[in-house]
Amino acid sequence: MQDPKRYTITAALPYTNGPVHIGHLAGVYVPADIYARFQRLQGKDVAFVCGSDEHGVPITLKAKKEGITPQQVVDKYHAIIKQSFEDFGITFDNYSRTSAKVHHDTASEFFKKLYDEGKFIEEVTEQLYDAEADQFLADRFVVGTCPKCGNEESYGDQCEACGTTHNATDLINPKSAITGAVPTLKETKHWFLPLDQYEPFLKEWILKDHKKDWKTNVYGQCKSWIDDGLRPRAVTRDLDWGIPVPVEGAEGKVLYVWFDAPIGYISATKEWAEREGKDWEPYWKSDDTKLLHFIGKDNIVFHCIIFPSMLKADGTYIMPDNVPANEFLNLEGNKISTSKNWAVWLHEYLEDFPGQQDVLRYTLTANAPETKDNDFTWADLQAKNNNELVAIFGNFINRVTVLTHKYYDGVVPAPAAFSEVDEKTLAELKAYPAVIESSIERYRFREAQQELMNVARLGNKYLADEEPWKTIKVDEERTKTIMYVALQIASALAVLSEPFIPFTSVKLKNMLNVSSSPSTSSGQAKVENSIKWADVSTNEELITPGHTINKNELLFSKIEDTQIQAQLDKLAASKLANEIANKEVTPQKDTCTFDDFTKLDMRVGTIIEAEKMPKAKKLLVLKVDTGIDIRTIVSGIAESFTPEEIIGKQVTVLVNLAPRALRGVDSEGMILMTEMPDGKLVFVNPDTSTPLSAGSDGVANGETIN
Ligand code: 2FM
Ligand code: ZN
Repeated sequence: MQDPKRYTITAALPYTNGPVHIGHLAGVYVPADIYARFQRLQGKDVAFVCGSDEHGVPITLKAKKEGITPQQVVDKYHAIIKQSFEDFGITFDNYSRTSAKVHHDTASEFFKKLYDEGKFIEEVTEQLYDAEADQFLADRFVVGTCPKCGNEESYGDQCEACGTTHNATDLINPKSAITGAVPTLKETKHWFLPLDQYEPFLKEWILKDHKKDWKTNVYGQCKSWIDDGLRPRAVTRDLDWGIPVPVEGAEGKVLYVWFDAPIGYISATKEWAEREGKDWEPYWKSDDTKLLHFIGKDNIVFHCIIFPSMLKADGTYIMPDNVPANEFLNLEGNKISTSKNWAVWLHEYLEDFPGQQDVLRYTLTANAPETKDNDFTWADLQAKNNNELVAIFGNFINRVTVLTHKYYDGVVPAPAAFSEVDEKTLAELKAYPAVIESSIERYRFREAQQELMNVARLGNKYLADEEPWKTIKVDEERTKTIMYVALQIASALAVLSEPFIPFTSVKLKNMLNVSSSPSTSSGQAKVENSIKWADVSTNEELITPGHTINKNELLFSKIEDTQIQAQLDKLAASKLANEIANKEVTPQKDTCTFDDFTKLDMRVGTIIEAEKMPKAKKLLVLKVDTGIDIRTIVSGIAESFTPEEIIGKQVTVLVNLAPRALRGVDSEGMILMTEMPDGKLVFVNPDTSTPLSAGSDGVANGETIN
């Protein structure tokens, strides 16, 4: 779209069943924020909206699991999410929530209008029903095998393995996520949006108009949906958590969360406009508005097929100009998972790395999953910080500001004649705003940020080549010129960095004693010491001789190995806790009688010798002093212990076990072992705390031997 008058930028409403993690940030919020900040810097009229998605099954399930109400769940996470976005510098013009009255009203009115205009099909169909829970099962209340890819853990509404969206009744072998029961079918009435009727419109709009500038992944998913043929889709549900269906005969029914959530963008805009004394409608209904949805790839169909069909059904709304969906970010090689606690949570990062928001923003953008899934590693964050932010950006700024203070008491010097290198450097600098802008406008934020770093590289190279620390001894005029040029580059960085690393940009502007103002059209009075984005390419001078800069402060500091190790330890602990929580407990063996038990003769023995059994990975050959005699016992513990560490250890020995030959060695007894919850073998010995279950080499638990 050429020169839009205003921008409506939406970022996917996060589900309020957990905090926000780095996957959400890299996929949606950081790119959306870069874009919004950039457009504001250009003086554009921007409404950047988001809010908490507080309905839907994941929230109900979380509430059931924690024994609290869905309202308590959403209140808790809405507060955490809103605060962490704010602290992270995501500059929403409004962060709303779908439990807000303005949203309930907006979504109800939206539905009612379509209902009154006969845009829905009303139909009684058979839906999955869990008799035990007395509840219909839709969406995430049901899991089963995906009819498309065979994933056995597909949800009722969407398969996370192949991304297909389906109806719960499409699942093979469905099972209730509430009780585990196999559901039955029961009749119920619902309202359907006949997506098939919007097929011609979608074909025209997406397949014809947009294929050139939409991302391939987005276009591909839309095309495959349309090619597969669209079917009517239920927009209501039998649930007690959500927005009540606002028509008669719909008691006990609510709007489908994916019907109400995208309307949340509209209600968030309304709420913002009212607060600002503006009219919300042009932001959604005017052709000169550029509407953009920033989302993750699992949301593509909802934003490109279903929501546009809803907007089209209403008939008064514009369509999104683009839906720059990202792929997924993995963490240390594994899929990020809220339920498995395999994530880097934003609110925890902010606590662990205070004041270092830009390090994470920078790393996530540098590694953004723009065209394929990507991996976040802590080692990479450390490298990005230490080798790029500290060593390139920070180093350049530090040299410039320190030398300006040292040579000129912080006053920008007047240049003498420019050399060819100076002219070339300044000309190169002027080209950057357009280069960065072009990448941002094509939603290539990684590329845009690389170009920003190239500005810092340009500065470093210039200083390294011109060596003001040497010229100061021999040529004062030349040194002034070098420092003047370097200060122009530093000033450009202060403005160009704002969309990407905004906290650094603020610090840098403070250091240079400049500000930035939006690049609005002519007639705007020049604010003193203020630099606009466009000035970098058009102004001969960004920072003027005689201007005094403020005292120097470090923009970035090195991240130490210990900090990274602490994060890796945290992840390992969370993985372990998750494994323990999900570990299948071995069922109890058949009862043994007291008489059976008294047949076992157990003694405390001491291991006096231990060595590996040749060519046997699991076996150690032990000599054990049982108090009766010294005997040989072959024990299957070689994967848990080295021979050296167990010599001298007191252990419990079953001494009257019938001897048997293992790999040609007669074993005359058994060392009692048990398994810890993490799967590690431990000795059942006189000073071991109570173990939980019998292990492969043991026959008793701690209580029975005492
Ligand atoms: O996938 C999600 O996290 C959804 N809560 C996104 C909703 S986006 C919009 F439609 F509100
Ligand atoms: Zn699938």
